[in-house]
Amino acid sequence: MKLVSEVDLPKLLTGERHRIHLIGVAGSGMSGIAALLLELGHNVSGSDKVSTLETDRLQRLGLRFFPQHRAEDASDADLIVVSSAIKIDNPILVSARDSSKPVVRRAEALAAVMRGKRGVVIAGMHGKTTTSAMTAHVLREGGLHPSHYVGAEIPILGTNAHWDSRGEYFVAEGDESDGTLRCFHPEHCLILNIEEEHLDFHVDLEAIEKVFAQLIEQTSETVFYNVDDANTARLCAKHKGAISFGFFEKADYRGADVELRDFASVFCVYRRGQQLGEAILNVPGQHNVQNAVGVIALATELGIPFEKIAASLRKFEHARRRFEIKYQSDRFLLVDDYAHHPTEIRATLKAAKSTGRKRVLTMFQAHRYSRTKALRKEFGRAFDDADRVVVTDVYPANEALIPGISGKTIADEIATHGHRGVSYQPRLEWVHRDVGNMLDFGDLVLSLGAGNIHEQLSVLAADLVIAERLIAIVGEEADVRLYEPLSKHTTLRVGGPAQFWVEPRNENAFAELIRSCRRESLPLFVIGRGSNLLVRDGGIRGVVVHPRGGDFDRIEVNGNEIIAGVGAKLKEVAYAGKAAGLGGLEWMEGIPGAVGGGLRMNAGAMGAQTFENIVRVRYLDANGEAHTKTCDELEVHYRNFPLLENNFAVSAVFRGQPAPTEEIVRKLEASQEKRRTSQPAAKSAGCIFKNPNSCPAGKLVDELGLKNSRVGKARVSEVHGNFIVNDGGATAADMIELIERIKSVARAKRGIELETEVQVVGEMA
Ligand code: EPU
Repeated sequence: MKLVSEVDLPKLLTGERHRIHLIGVAGSGMSGIAALLLELGHNVSGSDKVSTLETDRLQRLGLRFFPQHRAEDASDADLIVVSSAIKIDNPILVSARDSSKPVVRRAEALAAVMRGKRGVVIAGMHGKTTTSAMTAHVLREGGLHPSHYVGAEIPILGTNAHWDSRGEYFVAEGDESDGTLRCFHPEHCLILNIEEEHLDFHVDLEAIEKVFAQLIEQTSETVFYNVDDANTARLCAKHKGAISFGFFEKADYRGADVELRDFASVFCVYRRGQQLGEAILNVPGQHNVQNAVGVIALATELGIPFEKIAASLRKFEHARRRFEIKYQSDRFLLVDDYAHHPTEIRATLKAAKSTGRKRVLTMFQAHRYSRTKALRKEFGRAFDDADRVVVTDVYPANEALIPGISGKTIADEIATHGHRGVSYQPRLEWVHRDVGNMLDFGDLVLSLGAGNIHEQLSVLAADLVIAERLIAIVGEEADVRLYEPLSKHTTLRVGGPAQFWVEPRNENAFAELIRSCRRESLPLFVIGRGSNLLVRDGGIRGVVVHPRGGDFDRIEVNGNEIIAGVGAKLKEVAYAGKAAGLGGLEWMEGIPGAVGGGLRMNAGAMGAQTFENIVRVRYLDANGEAHTKTCDELEVHYRNFPLLENNFAVSAVFRGQPAPTEEIVRKLEASQEKRRTSQPAAKSAGCIFKNPNSCPAGKLVDELGLKNSRVGKARVSEVHGNFIVNDGGATAADMIELIERIKSVARAKRGIELETEVQVVGEMA
């Protein structure tokens, strides 16, 4: 292998044209190098196991991309650039070594390219991407035509790296994570902060400081440093000609009178006590103001007039995933941020809080097991400014699992620190549900982490767009919730969430909702009291309507008739009858459901059934049109009323017979007694099976000896064989398995095909 020191890398990269191959070209840092090399006129190829939008773009600029790492694809390359994520047994790397081809690391290539210009390196633990983007932007607006290299997509700069042959300066984000900061010999550097981080690579703070010290040593002109950061100040202050910036009174360049607005900050800038003027930064957070003061210091020293700097700062838009607004409306604000170190998290949460929203709800995904382990205590203290925190599992990057370290480690630390609103959700794909279900008007939701947690925020944003439309349709007096757990709305207490939970308060709102769901092809499902429902653990997609409150709960007595909304309980109809001296409805006392459910399944008890008491039913059809039908126009079966398969009941008129109060009371008591003595009090969905003709299902299950048989926390009641009870924490999967077991025993032993009376709906988890 030819030693890199034997080649004049800066000359090779900036003064000549070569054939260069990049291993791991899709990485955010590597793609920037590829862009620079292409612009410098090289013949560039690259390999990676993934392709990205960036590699697609680079291919259009001339990159030859290989989706595999094969030695032959790089055999004619004069130089190999390798990402630090690449393992030493990579075939291209092995072959390059065998054939003595020069191999350089990403940062070495970058440092060499920078040698062709007057280098400006932005370094620090946090905020360097935003700050380097800001620097490149301000220098560009100042007419200096800088080249740049920044570790993320920067909309305002166009690309993450660019070589501009017209200008003298090269602004680069220096990465301390793997020690390569040592490669740079810039003219100026801007140091933001130094603390313990990347402990997967550095032993301790001292080791980190050594790397920074070397960078400072290798800087030929000015070191700009954040004087408010103790470690940075200690390290930089002694450097000859160093210029300090920050909020500290004695800073050479000082920011003061900071006023944090919604997404902007207004502040004053002083140079050695003399006011330069006022600046506005359209990026939120005090920490960004601090970094901007650093950029102002540098740009001023490079000769750009303050007015010009202030004007460009005003126009600056920050990088993707840095306080990036994903969704904004009058009611909600969804923001994504890359913060993954406790200090960054604190700063971002502070910025979030300063927007003055009602609450800050946070979803957090830790990045790397090593960082989680090393900084667990600091993470525990980082979330004080969040009202609620949902922590999911660790994004491993390329690390192997560390036993005993997971997202729960952080959730526990946050709770131990005294936070009362933290929960752990190990399934990343469910995080948006947990947070979405907490949402209230005025909330800000923040996704934090360097992995893929932002995808959960995007899912939430997409559903929120629909939820807001639903709110507009049913009106603010209605209740619209995301991901409402249906275990809260079924008597069995099992079931996953409803994607959109809507409680309209009147017929018009319900009708509009039906029409809108039809227009937008959103599935719509109605749920009443959920007493005859078994919802699978994956929940129900689309809109779940719960007609409740307002008109739907109303009960009126008119002569012998009782008019009841579908949300009223059947039990209440029975008691309204009693109050008005109307009998014949007492059996309803024993039904846990509401009028809607009673109609839908022609519920029954004590030998009676719903439609024996029904005079008229009012319903909405699939177009939201209202109709009223009398009993003789309706087709009704045992435990089934087909009309409501595609239509939606809104109210019903029941008929009672005048009867002496004592008789009504006696019948009500008989029903209560029957329930008390023959049915379990535990959580259930009433009878699970329809009664087959040959034998009541409860009796059958009893005779088959299946009482008390169980799957998980689902158990056949010892009181009544047709009841399955939830002993606490049962899942729908437990319930369904137990049902299937009973059915197969009944089939095998008695030749009876049991049919569920309970409606089983929803998706599996
Ligand atoms: N039986 C047994 N062992 C049992 C359960 C019942 O031998 O474990 C016997 C009873 O002794 C009785 C017969 O089976 O001789 C029928 O039992 P029950 O009187 O309890 O009535 P059911 O048919 O099981 C029906 C309704 C219930 C309603 C009761 C009371 C159906 C599927 N169920 O139960 O409704 O509460 O009558 O009127 O029609 C519901 O629909 O969810 C519900 C609970």
